[in-house]
Amino acid sequence: MRQSKILQGVLIAGGLALSGAVFAATPSSEMLANTCAGCHGTHGNSQGPATPTITGISKDYFIDAMQAYQNDEGNPTVMNRIAKGYTEEEIQAMADFFSSQKFVAHKQEFNVNTAKRGYILHNKSCEKCHEDGGRSKEDDAGILAGQWSPYVRWSLQDYMSGKREAPKKMKKKLDEVVEQVGQEKAIERLVNYYASQAD
Ligand code: HEC
Ligand code: HEC
Repeated sequence: MRQSKILQGVLIAGGLALSGAVFAATPSSEMLANTCAGCHGTHGNSQGPATPTITGISKDYFIDAMQAYQNDEGNPTVMNRIAKGYTEEEIQAMADFFSSQKFVAHKQEFNVNTAKRGYILHNKSCEKCHEDGGRSKEDDAGILAGQWSPYVRWSLQDYMSGKREAPKKMKKKLDEVVEQVGQEKAIERLVNYYASQAD
């Protein structure tokens, strides 16, 4: 297996002297995941606020996200460069690791009234795919409840401006909420709602 450049870089930067024999071995999924910890936190629960927590998401979601980054999709700031350093097998191994870690919802401030208005939008337009108030790990759509608010806000802005391509049916629903209350209000309400779901 091709060892990743990033893994090697991190190990060298960390001053670890590893023999060629170790490099030739398949790195364990936890060892691979350690190279992500600087930004995504130990085991994937990020200290935020612009870096998403990546624990508990489904394997499919994880793999799709990494492949999209490898193809320069999704308007990433850093992940396109990072994702390109990994093979399919390594991504698979990391998907196993992160999806098996417990998602820690981040308690953040939110405005109760704005969150209530967000609930109305979410329930009508988003709940179908982001089930259980955005908590569900089963729908391969990421976890929104208790995800870092700046990251959620930024993702919604990217989708709504077309910088990140939303799945077709989701795009329709985003258009629907924007039509109802305008882009800015829709984003604030939804962001407050997902922050209110951190339990
Ligand atoms: C330099 C900081 C940094 C490092 C190192 C990093 N990430 Fe990221 N990651 C981010 C940021 C920031 C985002 C949001 C997208 C972007 O702007 O690139 C992100 C997004 C993601 C996402 C998408 C999450 C979602 O909810 O859609 C996944 C999956 C991910 N990273 C996996 C990894 C893995 C696996 C590694 C280690 C191999 C890693 N990241 C290393 C900063 C980092
Ligand atoms: C038809 C199913 C569907 C509907 C409806 C839907 N989504 Fe999504 N959503 C997805 C899928 C699938 C993804 C996975 C990422 C991608 O493909 O870009 C996603 C990703 C996201 C993300 C990014 C998560 C991350 O970690 O990067 C946000 C934010 C989001 N959706 C918000 C919403 C909101 C708000 C609504 C309602 C207005 C909504 N979605 C409606 C399917 C849906």
